[in-house]
Amino acid sequence: MKISVIGCGYLGAVHAASMAELGHEVVGIDVNPHRIDSLQRSIAPFHEPGFDALLLKNSSRLTFTTEMSAAADATVHFVAVGTPQSADGSADMTYVNSAIEGLLPCLSDGDLVVGKSTVPIGTAERLSEQVQPTGAVLMWNPEFLREGFAVEDTLSPDRLVYGVPAGDDGDSATAILDEVYSEIIAKGTPRLVMNFATAELVKVAANSFLATKISFINAMAEIADVTGANVTQLADAIGYDTRIGRRFLNAGIGFGGGCLPKDIRGFVARAEELGVGDALSFLKDVDDINGRRRTRVAEVLTEELGDLAGKTIAVWGISFKPDSDDIRDSPALDIAESLARAGATVVSADPEGWKPAQARIEQSGLSDSLTTTADHRAAAAGADALVVATEWKVFQGENAETIGELMSGNLVVDGRNCLDAESWKAAGFRYRGMGRA
Ligand code: UGA
Repeated sequence: MKISVIGCGYLGAVHAASMAELGHEVVGIDVNPHRIDSLQRSIAPFHEPGFDALLLKNSSRLTFTTEMSAAADATVHFVAVGTPQSADGSADMTYVNSAIEGLLPCLSDGDLVVGKSTVPIGTAERLSEQVQPTGAVLMWNPEFLREGFAVEDTLSPDRLVYGVPAGDDGDSATAILDEVYSEIIAKGTPRLVMNFATAELVKVAANSFLATKISFINAMAEIADVTGANVTQLADAIGYDTRIGRRFLNAGIGFGGGCLPKDIRGFVARAEELGVGDALSFLKDVDDINGRRRTRVAEVLTEELGDLAGKTIAVWGISFKPDSDDIRDSPALDIAESLARAGATVVSADPEGWKPAQARIEQSGLSDSLTTTADHRAAAAGADALVVATEWKVFQGENAETIGELMSGNLVVDGRNCLDAESWKAAGFRYRGMGRA
């Protein structure tokens, strides 16, 4: 089947290569010529495990271009452009709207347009009306991939969700998308067909639930900090209840990235527009709890070191999560910046995130007090304190004694509760976790 994918960011680029892996002929389209140039040469423009190999393996079925007209050869068109946060918290629909407008002249009778972007509820209905006069049909097929596992999640998703228009069009659209995903469906992947509003809601509800789970355990960390309880043991104990589950109960400096923070804010904004803002007022607490996690590290450092001005602090982690170079709304980078603003000299280390962070640091005017490196040991050298802000395996596996010898001070603040506290204490460190007395 001939497929076009509009938008080649984390979602679209991986989707395009994955569709080629399923045997389809795919063209990826994006307005960013640098990104397209890199993809065209089978070089991933961002760090995502397994993605380079996937691009290379499928290069004969995969092309990338900035020309929207290339979509005219395809019969299935995935829309995977970003929906960043607007100033008022709502989702910015500029890219989705312009992708659809650009696509309209390329559509033919019987084509299928498949929305994958995360959008405010009601968008699919509106876009469906726009697409209808061309004879094409629109479906909504939200994506649940996690960065760091994007290839695996695209090719082996937990479920497929199809939002379909009412009537016969729904059946024909479902049949076409079944053909696209036939290999995935053949593996027994659950496939759920529903109306547009439900499909749109599934996506934001899933991300809101995950964000709530993280903020719940971080709220417990706040309680643990004043009561002497240990939030990791608490999470283990409640997580054994299969109704609760242990996953996404890791307390620490909270969630970031290009999805959870902006999606819960966009959901709240849309609910307010729909006159049901009260239904989601709890998500504002979820967001507030998450925001407080970012100040907690500075509080702990100040408790231990006093005034941070003039102190040297190593921060391990820049990306919002391990196995990614994505620094969008990264708690790790936010914390490093706030420590630099407090007068500390900060060296941030990250195997991948160090590079994209440089431009942002220059823009923020902090480059005199905040520098980045790929070498976490070099960052620790001479530091009064070490903060672990992203749980890369290479940090977790580090030898505490070696790091102790490199540093001037002996304080480690484990912002992700990911270190073996006992071995760091045994190496002479003062260990402070998050909600871990
Ligand atoms: C999230 C969802 O997990 C995906 O299902 C969804 O498709 C995606 O957003 C999206 O909407 O595109 P992602 O942003 O890649 O995926 O990252 P997550 O693995 O969800 O982690 C988000 C943040 O939560 C990270 O900063 C992570 O460090 C933090 N987190 C995660 C915690 O603080 N504690 C946990 O227990 C788990």
